[in-house]
Amino acid sequence: MNQAIPDITADVLARQLTTKAIGRSLLTLDSTESTNLTAVELASTSLHGLVVVADHQTGGRGRNGRAWFSPPQRNLYFSILLKPPSPPAIVPQLSIVAALSMHTALLSLFPQLPVAVKWPNDIWIDGRKACGILCTMSAIGNTTEYAVLGLGLNINTTLDELPPELHGTATSLCIASGHPCDRCQVLATFLNTFEQDYTQWLAAASLAPFMPRWSQASLLDGHPVTAEHGHAIIAGTARGITPEGQLRLETNGTITLISAGDVARLRL
Ligand code: BTN
Repeated sequence: MNQAIPDITADVLARQLTTKAIGRSLLTLDSTESTNLTAVELASTSLHGLVVVADHQTGGRGRNGRAWFSPPQRNLYFSILLKPPSPPAIVPQLSIVAALSMHTALLSLFPQLPVAVKWPNDIWIDGRKACGILCTMSAIGNTTEYAVLGLGLNINTTLDELPPELHGTATSLCIASGHPCDRCQVLATFLNTFEQDYTQWLAAASLAPFMPRWSQASLLDGHPVTAEHGHAIIAGTARGITPEGQLRLETNGTITLISAGDVARLRL
């Protein structure tokens, strides 16, 4: 695609924000190694709600030590600095909250797209991954210092621009919708949605209020999957998540709770 993609600028973004705190402090960068790293570096001197957004990442990071494809002028790479007055044990739930916020935001802008959440916190469209979330946090004893939620969303990358290893597994809004999409509009819509969801999560101190949304949005619920469990791989049927964010996997009538790792849908 040779079409010019508009830059992500602070003023265009700020005009579309309806938030009180999230994104009110905003750092837009042409390039950085990783917006998560930048946000962590700024954490001690910055306010809750800082958003760091970069046009390009030279060392974008994914979960489980993987790299995140981060070419310039195409997609969204951003991190949100949060200072929740919550115990560290529940803070990782925020990546599931953010996945649901992204799901809601994308469906409000692209109601025709088959957008789904895939446990723990990916967004898939048409059977391929479009968005990933990486949560980094710091705590002292039972006090959370900060959490950084980093989101990478493929927006205007085209099929021929995807590296070979992502062919067949990744997609973008442009690939799925057939037209270029506005990065600022997507980011502002997400941040507006996320602030409301974050407030609800703080009040509940759990994912309990999000259960109906998860059931509606989930790619895996009711489907046969394999999941990493300790050093083993187990097969079963995905049966939603717990209010703490674990995946419920049913095997022969017994529920196993999966806390971390990759899950794949089985094609029968
Ligand atoms: C995943 O592996 O699914 C998580 C991907 C997270 C990528 C985003 S892009 C913005 C932020 N900065 C990073 O280096 N990673 C996250």
